[in-house]
Amino acid sequence: MKHLLKLQDLSREEITSILDLADQLKYEKKHGIAHPHLAGKTLGMIFQKSSTRTRVSFEAGMYQLGGSALFLSSNDLQIGRGEPVQDTARVLSRYLDGIMIRTFAQAEVEALAEYGSIPIINGLTDYAHPCQVLADLMTIREYKGKLEGLKLCFIGDGNNMANSLIAGGITMGMKVAIGCPKNYQPDEKLMAWAKGNGDFLCTDDIMEAAKDADVVYTDVWASMGQESEKKIREEAFKGYQVNDELMAVTHPGAMVMHCLPAHREEEITAKVFEEHANEIFDEAENRLHAQKAVLVKLMK
Ligand code: CP
Ligand code: NVA
Repeated sequence: MKHLLKLQDLSREEITSILDLADQLKYEKKHGIAHPHLAGKTLGMIFQKSSTRTRVSFEAGMYQLGGSALFLSSNDLQIGRGEPVQDTARVLSRYLDGIMIRTFAQAEVEALAEYGSIPIINGLTDYAHPCQVLADLMTIREYKGKLEGLKLCFIGDGNNMANSLIAGGITMGMKVAIGCPKNYQPDEKLMAWAKGNGDFLCTDDIMEAAKDADVVYTDVWASMGQESEKKIREEAFKGYQVNDELMAVTHPGAMVMHCLPAHREEEITAKVFEEHANEIFDEAENRLHAQKAVLVKLMK
């Protein structure tokens, strides 16, 4: 594994090995055992969109691994004034040991990897959010003791989260069901791959998607960069909500997950959110541990 660009690039063995290391790093952190695997190394973190979890967990994670992290806002970099990503990649490769980037186009992340000579980590694009889903898989494994055979359903927009959950879930042998409006389906190519490689369903009937699910996942109706579509989306996604009625058809003891930030009473009711707050905030915590595992795998 040279980069983390999208989860389709990883095998089941590679994902399992990241999750195992994440569990170990979490254990060590809880027991005060230092793990300075990346002493002397520097991670650059380029952000073209806002972030709370990704920024803070990567930065804190690098310090805990004995290295350092640089926050690089695209507003302050020449990239924001039009310097090509191909040139930025070749320059930053000479200063840094790894780059995490959050941006719009997946092609930009792929170009960084092609032109740079250091590991590139996708910290969210419009297409994928692989770091989030590694933390999600880690959390499901903690709660359920396994991944294979469990049913994961995602309710809402067929966005970056849906795409990465399909890629990660199917790779790990989970059943994946997406409940979304017809015009907001996940990436077509990815869905074709999922159908050919596992148990996959995409439907506009959310009750069918949620039926007997072990894990219910949701995300915002309008992602970063889609602010101008907010009103249209509110109409399109009415009813695509995780609420008591939906939870009633899931498997008893089903988990509820959310990548956060959450919009209460839109994609999820405040009641269901609070009833499952432990799972949701363990999931947020696990961003730290899962990403530290990725950093060690790529940069050590
Ligand atoms: N879930 C997630 O990536 O959160 P941030 O946007 O706060 O980084
Ligand atoms: N789909 C959301 C995820 C945020 C973590 C977005 O892209 O804004």
